[in-house]
Amino acid sequence: MKPENPAILFVCLGNICRSPLAEAAFRAAATAAGLAHHTDSAGTAAYHVGDPPDSRSVTVAASYGIDISSYRGRQICAQDYRSFTHILALDRANLADIRRHAPADSTAKIALLLDMADGNEDGEVADPYYGDLADFETTWSAVRRAADALVAKLLVGRT
Ligand code: 4NP
Repeated sequence: MKPENPAILFVCLGNICRSPLAEAAFRAAATAAGLAHHTDSAGTAAYHVGDPPDSRSVTVAASYGIDISSYRGRQICAQDYRSFTHILALDRANLADIRRHAPADSTAKIALLLDMADGNEDGEVADPYYGDLADFETTWSAVRRAADALVAKLLVGRT
């Protein structure tokens, strides 16, 4: 039987700064590698449901040729735990929240993004919300590197 395509949900707190960039970086890396996939992002909180990404995330993505302006914030829901193969948290607080709300019939692998991607158990993608554009560049570098590593692992079936 053909294994299911990877379906990756990236989750941060607000779904307007970090996880939209992670989603965009993963989509670009997977598409470039010819990896059939599904991806989305969500927040653990509902503060920004329906909102576009933070303008600084839009600016940084655009500088790498990626338009994320049509993305809209949403909150993680019970169905996500069954419909995604992986739910990847940007930081430890997100990871704890995702685990706390997992339904009993969850099938997704739940992990810290940087741990899943590079085996960096302590790795978190810091929240740039109260920072400046340089912090969003740092976020992009981190999620871009992680996305490339994740695609490489998925291609060889090692996650
Ligand atoms: P994110 O950043 O979790 O990377 O989307 C944040 C966005 C909004 C807030 C906090 C963090 N907020 O408090 O509204």
